[in-house]
Amino acid sequence: MADVEHTLLLIKPDAVRRGLVGEILSRVERKGLRIRALELRTIDDDLARRHYAEHAAKPFFADLVAFITSGPLVAAVIEGPRAVETLRTLMGSTDPVAAPPGTIRGDFGLLVTENLVHGSDSVTSAAREIALFFPHFAADA
Ligand code: TYD
Ligand code: MG
Repeated sequence: MADVEHTLLLIKPDAVRRGLVGEILSRVERKGLRIRALELRTIDDDLARRHYAEHAAKPFFADLVAFITSGPLVAAVIEGPRAVETLRTLMGSTDPVAAPPGTIRGDFGLLVTENLVHGSDSVTSAAREIALFFPHFAADA
């Protein structure tokens, strides 16, 4: 298949607490994307800081790390044509109030701090983030 990419999806602790795991995975699958790896886990401070390293100097960083480590999340490697952009489109914009209805954040979110999902923002970010969460993942296996 042309332009097949891999991207990291996180279903964040707020979405797990609200019972939205199936709904979110269902939207990803119905779009035609494929789940290649899947895990429920509570991440520690070290992984959270490394995952969000680009935001280390931002005022919201401490709250972001506290939130993302606050309970179990679902991590997944998603595969498909232009998977990075496709997943970001399904998610909607970072601020759920600005995300249109029909997107995950637009349908289920209200707060930027509890915006349900993470998706890698580029192919380069995806490779880095997949290696952090799934160190043994092999795209061609
Ligand atoms: P960012 O990478 O800008 O957004 P996205 O998740 O859409 O790639 O920010 C990472 C997360 O940081 C974002 O999902 C929620 C949180 N965040 C805040 O809590 N406050 C903010 O003002 C921003 C921009 C992000
Ligand atoms: Mg981001």
